[in-house]
Amino acid sequence: MKKEKSAPKRFIDRYFWHALIAIIVIGVLANLFIWFSSSKTSAKHLNLPSYPVELVAQGRDIYRANCLMCHGESGQGFAQETIPAPALDSTMHAWHHPDSQIASFLRDGIGQMPAVGENWSDQEITAVLAYIKQWWEPEQLSYQTQSSKQNP
Ligand code: HEC
Repeated sequence: MKKEKSAPKRFIDRYFWHALIAIIVIGVLANLFIWFSSSKTSAKHLNLPSYPVELVAQGRDIYRANCLMCHGESGQGFAQETIPAPALDSTMHAWHHPDSQIASFLRDGIGQMPAVGENWSDQEITAVLAYIKQWWEPEQLSYQTQSSKQNP
């Protein structure tokens, strides 16, 4: 007489491979998901400059004395009705310009912007750059840092 397998044994025979494959597939998908989401959101790929706090403070004083009257307290722009000074914060495109180009705007002027920093030292220029960069988003800052390296 043939011996019948017990009910739990039959269950394992029938579903063991399905379950194992399902677990492997779920595991692989979960790992892919974690890998993709972390590579998108993590800050490790951003290329951010760092400036000493004293330099940023010097930049704030320079900004308040020389730029605020046109570009506004927080770089929001259009502080004067007669001169259309664009925003320097993250909302317009100040961050598209590499440092070298902004330095030349300050030293030589551009359009209706006078040469406010005609006789400024490199440190004064860097200080005011360090100050306005605080208004940019990390991705903008990262892009601008890269482009400043490529356009010395
Ligand atoms: C008299 C008003 C005035 C002052 C003062 C002034 N700017 Fe400007 N700025 C302008 C105007 C107007 C423009 C637009 C020039 C153009 O493209 O025709 C401009 C453009 C710029 C740009 C380029 C922005 C962009 O989106 O392309 C930067 C950066 C900038 N200014 C920074 C500064 C900084 C930093 C200071 C102070 C050190 C300063 N400006 C002082 C009026 C001014």
